[in-house]
Amino acid sequence: MQKAMTILGIESSCDDTAASVVHLSLETKTKDWKISSRISSAKILSSEIFSQNSLHENYGGVVPEIAARAHAENLDICVSLSLKNAELNASEIDLISVTSGPGLIGGLISGTMFAKGLSKSLGKPIIGVNHLAGHALSPRLSEFSLGNPALEFPYLVLLASGGHCQFLEVMSPSKFRRLGGTIDDSPGEAFDKLAKLLGLGYPGGPLIENCAKKGKINRFNLPKPLFKALTCNMSFSGLKAAAAREIEKNFQYSSEEKKAVFINDMSADFQKTISDIFAEKSKIAMTSFREKYYKNLTGLKFCVCGGVAANQSIRQCLENTSKKLGFEFFAPPIELCTDNGAMIASAGAEIFLERGCIERELEIRSRWPLDTESAPLIGSGKRGAKS
Ligand code: KG4
Ligand code: ZN
Repeated sequence: MQKAMTILGIESSCDDTAASVVHLSLETKTKDWKISSRISSAKILSSEIFSQNSLHENYGGVVPEIAARAHAENLDICVSLSLKNAELNASEIDLISVTSGPGLIGGLISGTMFAKGLSKSLGKPIIGVNHLAGHALSPRLSEFSLGNPALEFPYLVLLASGGHCQFLEVMSPSKFRRLGGTIDDSPGEAFDKLAKLLGLGYPGGPLIENCAKKGKINRFNLPKPLFKALTCNMSFSGLKAAAAREIEKNFQYSSEEKKAVFINDMSADFQKTISDIFAEKSKIAMTSFREKYYKNLTGLKFCVCGGVAANQSIRQCLENTSKKLGFEFFAPPIELCTDNGAMIASAGAEIFLERGCIERELEIRSRWPLDTESAPLIGSGKRGAKS
């Protein structure tokens, strides 16, 4: 039996206000389509993003208070535009899916409160989604929307974004196991910091990627902490500090031409160092994944997702690593790597179809590890485990 489901996804956990309408085609064996349905294909009917880049640019990073205000101002406009471009009325939506954590608390409050109000007024179900689940499931949305066969569970993911970096086994829409991750900064944060130090602007990743294309590698000897350790854990704060020292040394008395060459070379080396760390740690994660699930089988899948996965050079490097280790490689299109509402819409639907809504997941959480069983990588503190 064929069924369909239309979902409104709302995302406001960091510096982008995003809303999207996603239409899913389902195959179901029972009359109640909410039970035992399988997604057969997806269509992203609209995906609107109100970027806050210009508001944060001068600060070289996201200012939480400014972000929260901008979300509150833009949410209704963004959602209305998303419905308009999908050519749908709000009443035609079957499910509202909203990011309820982890992230900046002000933005999460704005988005979740807005979504709850909409759900009450329309009488439609609402589900709170972990932003990281949105990223980790985004390769599935990408495959569904390309009309490809489903990217089946379990698969291995490197989730690399502005706030997080971890290797995850994705067992189901709501079951994840973390194999390792960063013990300090995220790679996105490192890119942003480097761009700030080089005076390039915000967000740093795409700007550094652009400069790296014009630069030469192997000019600087940047550190790779934990590179030789036989775990999937990574560290990026030393890399940031080493780059800062080089900039201090080289920048002050340089001519404009020399500075431009320095910026390009530093960008190239920095990007290459992050790629090398990812490749090395991916090998360890892949070996462990193979041992666990596919000892004698084919069908191994490795995905990269999150904002840093938008980087072409990193994607290429990880594709090569995947090939070498016998993994099929997946990376969503760039617009599904950086924050967007479509990944929240489809992740919400996948979780809803798997086990329905859980009221508690609408509680706003600045910290919300995907894997709640493994010991936290970084200290827990008063607000709970960070990752
Ligand atoms: O996933 P995302 O949009 O937001 C978070 O959940 O954090 O990731 C944003 C991060 C930023 O740090 C940005 O600099 C980085 O992703 N990024 C990139 C690229 N595009 C975005 N990093 C490297 N290369 C890129 N092309
Ligand atoms: Zn994100």
